[in-house]
Amino acid sequence: MKKEVRKAVIAGNWKMNMTPSQAKEAVAATAKLVEGKSGCDVVLCVPFVDIASAIEAAKGTNVKIGAQNVHFEKKGAFTGEVSADMLLETGAEYVIVGHSERRQYFGETDETVNKRAKAALDAGLFVILCLGEVLEQRQAGITAEIISMQTKLDLAGITAEQMKKVIIAYEPVWAIGTGLTATPEQADEACGIIRGVIAELYSAELAEATVIQYGGSMNDGNAAELLSKVNVDGGLIGGASLVPEKFSKIVDAAQ
Ligand code: PGA
Repeated sequence: MKKEVRKAVIAGNWKMNMTPSQAKEAVAATAKLVEGKSGCDVVLCVPFVDIASAIEAAKGTNVKIGAQNVHFEKKGAFTGEVSADMLLETGAEYVIVGHSERRQYFGETDETVNKRAKAALDAGLFVILCLGEVLEQRQAGITAEIISMQTKLDLAGITAEQMKKVIIAYEPVWAIGTGLTATPEQADEACGIIRGVIAELYSAELAEATVIQYGGSMNDGNAAELLSKVNVDGGLIGGASLVPEKFSKIVDAAQ
């Protein structure tokens, strides 16, 4: 199997931006711009409180809606958290887990990321699992070790069947929100390393079928080159996903 058989996924991560009314407008505007662009899947991961209005605005379009986190317990005394079943019932189809901002600012570890991924998959959601090295790790020359370890820990106990709903987002932490982008070669190499680990953990066939995105200051100017790489199957886009015109150009680049 080759890259051609994997359908690219262009996903926006709005982070803590947009009120519900703004979300409605932005989803509608994005949907209009990406209408008929069936060469990739288009997803917008929005704040929890925006999900309902985003889903309403996305109805009948090719934009799918996701959340940005999910808790691993089914229900109970976990103030401020949201379960996978709750997300599913809203109509959300995707959820991001393990974003570096969750790891950096909210104490997420590979163990909790793994538990969240499993809970989401058990409920039937698609998971966008983020991982990547920090600057000091890249400078120390241990990027391959770090991302291999994260891949193994974050996927622990996830079955081959469940992997059909897992998208990996390789996001070097030093490139997120900084305007610094990995070079296409760096992105390709890291995504290739992750694919190799998946082949080890599961099979070569499953590794070839897994969508591995790049994320970190991807924009309408650099997307085409990044996406041209054999191991880069899409993007997870923060800042540029807030502007429908910019985001849709990245979707164009993935056609
Ligand atoms: P950025 O964010 O595109 O703003 O760098 C990417 C991400 O955090 O997923």
